[in-house]
Amino acid sequence: MPKITIDNREVNIPDGGTILDAARKLGIEIPTLCFLKGYKATTSCLTCVVKVNGRKNLVPACATVAEEGMEVESETAEVRGARRTALELLLSDHVGDCIAPCQLLCPAGMNIPQMLRQIVAGDNTAAVATVLRDIALPAVLARICTAPCEKGCRRGSLDKPIPICELKGYVADLNLAAESPWAPKCRPASGKRVAVVGGGPTGISAAFHLAVNGHAATVFEREPQVGGRILTEFGREVLPRETLEAEVEFIARMGVDFVTDTTVGGNGSSDFEHLITEFDAVLIAAGTSAHEQAVAWGLKTTERGLSIDKADYRASLSGVFAAGGAVRSTKLVVRSTADGKEAAQSIDRYLENPAAEAVPEPFTTKIGRMTREELLQLANVAESGGGKDMKSLDETQKHARDAAACLHCDCRGADNCELRIQSEKYQAGATQYHATSEQRRPVKMLRHKDRIVYEPGKCIRCGRCIAIVNETANTLGLTLIGRGFNVEVGVPFGRDLGEVFGRQDAKTADELAAKCIAACPTAALSKP
Ligand code: SF4
Ligand code: SF4
Ligand code: SF4
Ligand code: FES
Repeated sequence: MPKITIDNREVNIPDGGTILDAARKLGIEIPTLCFLKGYKATTSCLTCVVKVNGRKNLVPACATVAEEGMEVESETAEVRGARRTALELLLSDHVGDCIAPCQLLCPAGMNIPQMLRQIVAGDNTAAVATVLRDIALPAVLARICTAPCEKGCRRGSLDKPIPICELKGYVADLNLAAESPWAPKCRPASGKRVAVVGGGPTGISAAFHLAVNGHAATVFEREPQVGGRILTEFGREVLPRETLEAEVEFIARMGVDFVTDTTVGGNGSSDFEHLITEFDAVLIAAGTSAHEQAVAWGLKTTERGLSIDKADYRASLSGVFAAGGAVRSTKLVVRSTADGKEAAQSIDRYLENPAAEAVPEPFTTKIGRMTREELLQLANVAESGGGKDMKSLDETQKHARDAAACLHCDCRGADNCELRIQSEKYQAGATQYHATSEQRRPVKMLRHKDRIVYEPGKCIRCGRCIAIVNETANTLGLTLIGRGFNVEVGVPFGRDLGEVFGRQDAKTADELAAKCIAACPTAALSKP
């Protein structure tokens, strides 16, 4: 039973145990993208490398047997750098979009494909919950947004883009018109109070998201009505005032206090100092009018407005934040609301822990341009997976029909993809060694009955599914087939995966498919 140390912590493990076994015993996390417990190590990913003192090269923890007296380091700069490079190499010929292009283009980052699937399923409550997670004023925006998301919609390259903005409006209007509209469940009251200076789109949005997080938000607006630039830039014919009023009322019912006809700073800097002492945090969302006041309030400025840390909207005084037109000029109202949401999230972290660090952007890989053939293939899989015969829907179900044309460009396994999780953790660059779009592997999506979907472009050839299938008796074996960029998991002799997952008796095939999907470290294998 050798005794070794990892990061200066001692551990005994049975003879023949690996460094990975020892680390797991100590609760030390080491990423493993190819090793699967109970199967022989293939050492194809090299994300599990560690430093063994006295050895020149880093070694894979999953395949290195622990020896008496070994001293291992698992988190040095060298180890982290090597893991990052290993991940970047895996990403170099990886073909997938963790996040759909429409969602990436939406300044508020709304999960558009999810909303569309919920509309198709006829579940408006779920759809409105998806919308309100990121957008506080969806009915207003549906009428005034220039819809940058639609410009990048993949369906647009086939025929016409999904009318995302209109569908969002449909979901929001239906909710507002309901007898008891669905509203997000706010977290229990935190006891913290936040002052929001300015009742335009940034301030309203921030107050909404602060309320969801359990904080008491008070919005101070100098005009008799909240709305700010929404009121001054858009006429009633484009934006009926009732729509804005209905959404503001909806937010007020969630507990936000709107104080109108009140100018903060009207009595000079003492007014502002009073706010800072009264409230646990202050957000300045007063557009350009905040620029003139900022100096009197003792805040640093740039030529564009208040000076902030772009990562978390913190202004130069502790507990003070600024967002929207107060810090930059933007034409897009949805950008202003997105600023409000991001500032609210940052304030939420600050209230929990004043020293909290900014959260990095979510990791995503991008496919880029796709050929018509590739898009048609996605359309075929999307249609065959819809479950409903959308063509039979009549005009009254127009919205479901429009939503059903979505190609579901988001990745089916984005929330638990190990490649993505580790790439985010080790800050791997998705395009560090990336193939150019002419060189990349083709986008393929192969659906085998109702059991499994295989996307070869997302496969990192870890060998886990191969090992699982090949240990099952009475089955055709799986193997890696092809050369270079074209290596794919497949069945020898030109047969396809359907023969493995379709040939067994139904129960075995279902179990085998489920086991492979669960073991796959990416979304290369997923449920249909
Ligand atoms: S398989 Fe993972 S890394 Fe690849 S697109 Fe999906 S979530 Fe992103
Ligand atoms: S087809 Fe659907 S998922 Fe793809 S970009 Fe358009 S709306 Fe987004
Ligand atoms: S498809 Fe198989 S070989 Fe490819 S990443 Fe998934 S489990 Fe590994
Ligand atoms: S090389 Fe060890 S987990 Fe991949």
